[in-house]
Amino acid sequence: MAEAIMEVGGLVKHYPLTRGVLFKKQIGAVKAVDGVDFTLHRGETLGIVGESGCGKSTVARMLVNLERPTSGTIKYKGEDITRLSGRALKAVRRNIQMVFQDPYTSLNPRMTVGDIIGEPYDIHPEVAPKGDRRKKVQALLDVVGLNPEYINRYPHQFSGGQRQRIGIARGLALRPEIIVADEPVSALDVSVQAQVINLMGRLQEEFSLSYVFIAHDLSIVRHISDRVGVMYLGRIVEIGRDAEIYDHPTHPYTQALLSAVPVPDPEAREKRERIILAGDVPSPTNVPSGCRFRTRCWKAQERCAEEVPVLAVPSPFREPGGPVAHDSACHFAAEAGVVEGQNNGPG
Ligand SMILES: Nc1ncnc2c1ncn2[C@@H]1O[C@H](COP(=O)(O)OP(=O)(O)O)[C@@H](O)[C@H]1O
Ligand SMILES: [Mg+2]
Repeated sequence: MAEAIMEVGGLVKHYPLTRGVLFKKQIGAVKAVDGVDFTLHRGETLGIVGESGCGKSTVARMLVNLERPTSGTIKYKGEDITRLSGRALKAVRRNIQMVFQDPYTSLNPRMTVGDIIGEPYDIHPEVAPKGDRRKKVQALLDVVGLNPEYINRYPHQFSGGQRQRIGIARGLALRPEIIVADEPVSALDVSVQAQVINLMGRLQEEFSLSYVFIAHDLSIVRHISDRVGVMYLGRIVEIGRDAEIYDHPTHPYTQALLSAVPVPDPEAREKRERIILAGDVPSPTNVPSGCRFRTRCWKAQERCAEEVPVLAVPSPFREPGGPVAHDSACHFAAEAGVVEGQNNGPG
């Protein structure tokens, strides 16, 4: 596998929960992100999936330094960027850019497309001196499949898919190494989603980009991800190579999510049962003890209320390269990982 370009360790973001208007008193915390670990390798796409409210956007904002973590580290090429400030931070930020979820609200309606895409150059004029800007912006329009002559138009003159192309062009303006895309196609019609995903795949090759690609649905990240991490209530509960997660999920939450993804093959569809989870996602202000998924899990036992499951490869499968040699935060991941017809169980 390629080298690690970003390493996230113990990432936490708690927002204070306050009461009172004049005299604010902290009465608790919204545990939006509550201990996230992952590695992003150079040139890969790491998909991050989870239901609305599980902390995906909060992770994204911390990765691009729009928000400081409560605790934890984000290492970019070995250096913890959460501790940087001033010029060092600015230099790192240039290399880690974000594409936002909603191209309808993330583009300033009063600015021309040229000014929107060229805006990052105001902060980093060294990348494009004034005289070069127009040419650079037109080249960016071309690269995302838009007519360079549209440079003086306004966002409302474009369709949703075209607007997201503008957002992507802006993300590329500083020639970053990492792009964090926060549900970049969720606001788009299904028919345009694939076009934007294909474009992002092409750009990844062309510019040797590493992606953190966030989605709320496993079927969207399937086509673009090399590895996939599944989030639940502020934590990653299972993470591994694409094929392992889709074919041999060992966490009950992943299994439930996958059971809701439509399968084109009727034979495979018959074999699979739809898992309906009990209840709702608990509030991040009141996270269950032990395994945070236990209140909705059909496998939950006493142990699950007492012991926090560690995100790790289940012990019988620690030989590398096996079909379930990926991390899962479930006390019963080993049992779920026994693959039919394969003798890789504990013996
Ligand atoms: N600035 C904030 N202040 C308080 N709570 C927040 C803030 N931002 C997000 N949250 C809460 O944190 C949780 C995670 O939000 P978010 O990261 O947006 O999730 P997702 O992107 O997965 O939908 C939600 O419960 C949300 O209400
Ligand atoms: Mg979000």
